[in-house]
Amino acid sequence: MGRIIAIANQKGGVGKTTTSINLAAALAEKGKKVLVIDTDPQGNTTSGFGLDKNELENTIYELMIGECSVDEAINKNVVEGLEGLDIIPSNVNLAAVEIELIDADQKEYILKEAIEKVKDNYDFIIIDCPPSLSMLTINSMTTASTVLVPIQCEYYALEGLGQLVHTVNLVKERLNPELEMEGVVFTMFDARTNLSLQVVENVKEHIEENVYKTIIPRNIRLAEAPSYGLPINLYEPKSAGAEAYRLLADEVIAREF
Ligand SMILES: Nc1ncnc2c1ncn2[C@@H]1O[C@H](COP(=O)(O)OP(=O)(O)OP(=O)(O)O)[C@@H](O)[C@H]1O
Ligand SMILES: [Mg+2]
Repeated sequence: MGRIIAIANQKGGVGKTTTSINLAAALAEKGKKVLVIDTDPQGNTTSGFGLDKNELENTIYELMIGECSVDEAINKNVVEGLEGLDIIPSNVNLAAVEIELIDADQKEYILKEAIEKVKDNYDFIIIDCPPSLSMLTINSMTTASTVLVPIQCEYYALEGLGQLVHTVNLVKERLNPELEMEGVVFTMFDARTNLSLQVVENVKEHIEENVYKTIIPRNIRLAEAPSYGLPINLYEPKSAGAEAYRLLADEVIAREF
């Protein structure tokens, strides 16, 4: 069975979606079969892969409320030129799912159950989480084998990290004993400032989790790529951002659980 990685941090704008898209694309470029699951009603991963959020027949929402099958929810080979990269998309409809499923049985395991049939078809499943510790994030963590936490190189980087680690531990204790910390990855590193470097040193001192050696630089190409509906390795294959996500993919592949 492959590895299911939830990309989570309840802090907004730290690079969860950028990492989901580009780590997934780098893994696919290396020949891995990858499924990306967008669990954020913002649907940024969905549009980042070039899908029109408003034109989708089936999304993770229909899948979770039982209105479509998992095969119907999967968009296969979502980007031209990258074999083996599939996505279960999302849009704003997903925002209602928490209320709609409030009385559902086993509501922490709805996503896990939903993808059970297809999970062995993939080497990696990457789940982009919303910026919250909501039922959707809990569903991602019960589905996942590991949690990868992007940390933005800014002054408040450590804020909320304790709460996130606590949540992962609670899920592990009560809902998914198999869950492990994949580790943290620093994002938006700016080599021109001392602050970025200080943040990396400071976070490393304060956490016990694995820290990926690859640090994702602040790179304008990474911010531009989603508006073309392309991952960085297709949009600007030689950019610093593309190289960084390839190195991260190598490290992720090399890690064993
Ligand atoms: N390495 C980078 N270099 C430059 N810009 C980046 C980088 N990583 C992310 N960004 C930009 O920063 C913003 C936030 O990134 P992203 O959407 O990946 O974060 P997020 O954690 O998914 O946000 P949210 O919590 O809203 O889901 C986006 O505009 C994105 O294009
Ligand atoms: Mg996001």
